[in-house]
This record gives sequence, C-alpha cells and structure tokens, in this order.
Amino acid sequence: MIENQSPYICHLFVCTNNRGGERTSCADGGSPAFKAAIKQEIADRGWKGRVRVSEAGCLGLCEKGPNIIIYPHKIWFSAVTANDLPEIFQTLEDIMGK
Ligand code: FES
Repeated sequence: MIENQSPYICHLFVCTNNRGGERTSCADGGSPAFKAAIKQEIADRGWKGRVRVSEAGCLGLCEKGPNIIIYPHKIWFSAVTANDLPEIFQTLEDIMGK
C-alpha cells in the first residue's frame, strides 16, 4: 500500500444511487444530470485536476436527497435542485479562493 495526500483541493461526491422507485433515492431528484452539469462547469472553469467530481453510492440520507458533498471540507448539500447549482459553485469558489 502507498499512502498519499489527495492531489485535489476538494472532491465532490454526487450521490447517483438509483433504486428504480422501490425506495427513495437521489437519482429520483435528477442527481445524474447534476453530476454531468457540475463536471462540465468544472471543465469550463479550468478546475479539472484541482476539483474532482465523482459519483457516490448511497450516502445514508436518502430521504433528504439528492445529496452532494464536498470533502475534505465536510459540506453537505441536501434536497439539491438544479436551481441550487450556482450556490454550490459559489461555495467552490470560496474554497478555491482560500
Ligand atoms: S440514495 Fe442518495 S443518500 Fe441514499
């Protein structure tokens, strides 16, 4: 095993878990589209290599989803809608400016 420091300033995990309607899951609220939009915006801003966006499986707060989290900053966004993406990017700008 090799232990390393993260190469990223921060890492967004977008829960895209999809239970197909059997139980509430973040995909019900459109999280796969949020992930795609966030990835595109990261690329457009030239943040690739500094901000990583990854799909996550269930984060444990399914009823409050869609959930998007930023680590290592321990920031959780719940009940995310497309209208919230600018606020998420404002938070990222704050992080990147630090
Ligand atoms: S399905 Fe997203 S937190 Fe459980």
